[in-house]
Amino acid sequence: MGPMNRTTEAASRPARRSAPYRLLPAALALALVAACGGGGGGDGDGGPEEGGTGVGDPVFPTLGNGGYDVRHYGLTLDYEPEGNDLDATAVLTARATKDLAAFTLDLSGLKVTSAKVDGKPAKTSRSGTKLRIEPARPLAKGREFRAEIAYEGRPKTIRDPDGDKEGWIETDHGAVGLGEPVGSMAWFPGNHHPSDKATYDFTVTVPKGFTAVANGEPKGTETVEDEDGDDWTVFRWHSGEPMASYVTSVAIGEFTVLKTTAAAREVPVYVAHAAGAKAEAAGRHMKEMVPKVLAWEEKLFGPYPFASSGAVVDPNRYVGYALETQTKPYYPEPPRDEIIVHELAHQWFGNSVTPRTWRDMWLNEGFAQYAEWMWEAREQKKRTERQIFDDYYDGKDEESRSKDGETIWSFPPAYPTAETISDRPVYDRGAMVLHKLREAVGDDVFFDILRTWARDHRYGNAGTDDFIRLCEKKAGKDLGGLFDTWLFKAAKPSHR
Ligand code: TRP
Ligand code: ZN
Repeated sequence: MGPMNRTTEAASRPARRSAPYRLLPAALALALVAACGGGGGGDGDGGPEEGGTGVGDPVFPTLGNGGYDVRHYGLTLDYEPEGNDLDATAVLTARATKDLAAFTLDLSGLKVTSAKVDGKPAKTSRSGTKLRIEPARPLAKGREFRAEIAYEGRPKTIRDPDGDKEGWIETDHGAVGLGEPVGSMAWFPGNHHPSDKATYDFTVTVPKGFTAVANGEPKGTETVEDEDGDDWTVFRWHSGEPMASYVTSVAIGEFTVLKTTAAAREVPVYVAHAAGAKAEAAGRHMKEMVPKVLAWEEKLFGPYPFASSGAVVDPNRYVGYALETQTKPYYPEPPRDEIIVHELAHQWFGNSVTPRTWRDMWLNEGFAQYAEWMWEAREQKKRTERQIFDDYYDGKDEESRSKDGETIWSFPPAYPTAETISDRPVYDRGAMVLHKLREAVGDDVFFDILRTWARDHRYGNAGTDDFIRLCEKKAGKDLGGLFDTWLFKAAKPSHR
């Protein structure tokens, strides 16, 4: 829930792990922070200032906003699939982290029809993906405030720099909002950087016959009639643990919701599947798999962090990836079991423990990928983790070669760019880092590290530096060489 710490990880990383790769992004990040006014700067007269656009993310420098910390989002979305028509209100409960004359939110497209701060009309203006809000009176540092923004229009699909589609995506029977990495601003205004986590309530009203599913647990439905006499259904969902906005999701369609329970605490599991034989079969399979996988992952990673779990199985030819949307991963096609293992592993690594910046993406994808390796080795008994590692090293695994002739050695997992953030090096070499670590410290220490990581940073944010520090503490030795070779350097190591 805290805004990211602007002493960047690169700046605070011990100098001995020097590599040319590390210096450039740090310098670049600082330059960009300065250029976009990340965190706010100000003239130092002590008076109220602008909150600042951008929080200094090294990969997405304009993302997020300074000067405040969102605690809670109350999103009310009235959606008519025919015409893709959204009429919405976002109520943000936030705390000013400095004296604020004005602040910004990330919002892409849509029309803002009114804004209030603490019930009083506020001035708004738009510039690019920034919505600036100037309250009638400045907000004093430490003050909790309520920003209420009414907006409407046709939410858009965003194509991000890595080529994926996210944001608001219409499907054959409805629509879905997906965030990673920069899509959530297409359907609600917010502080859309992973460092500002918050709790959420969703109130989604859709024409009768449609079902709306969002993160967290259902809080009831009701039927309402509009002035034309048409019936609409209101679906309420509550997400009570902190959530990064890129893993928020609302899916609207002709869904059936299956229920079961899972994990040691027997949390409720909600599996929403679309109509049709394929999706129905996938939904039934998912209902079996979620409890099975969560029980298996709890043994490896420690207690499942959220109050519910589930899935959204929504055959969707417009989305080319599954996404670990919090509590209910989104599957655009019936997934292989490894994918279920992957998305559920993200609930610990990515969702509960969230990267401090987008550069730390390997902490998500490397861990989720390594969960897949362990599933293959322990459950499917196909290849051992070492064999998988060697296959990547030897270039045998088909996934070791990705788009445009890029290989897993094209860049080190610690330094993705906006274009390469979802590429194989982040996933496969990220998993290789973990396997090298496991071999270096032994199974007991390795699994202790994974569980301690999940426990110490539960619901928070953590970065690569924090991880290395934890590993060295648990191992009682310097692991700089290992991380340099496998995490920070581009070149394929000469040894395996
Ligand atoms: N995180 C998704 C997964 O489970 C994949 C993904 C979609 C992704 N969009 C992304 C990863 C953007 C990084 C950045 O693998
Ligand atoms: Zn993933």
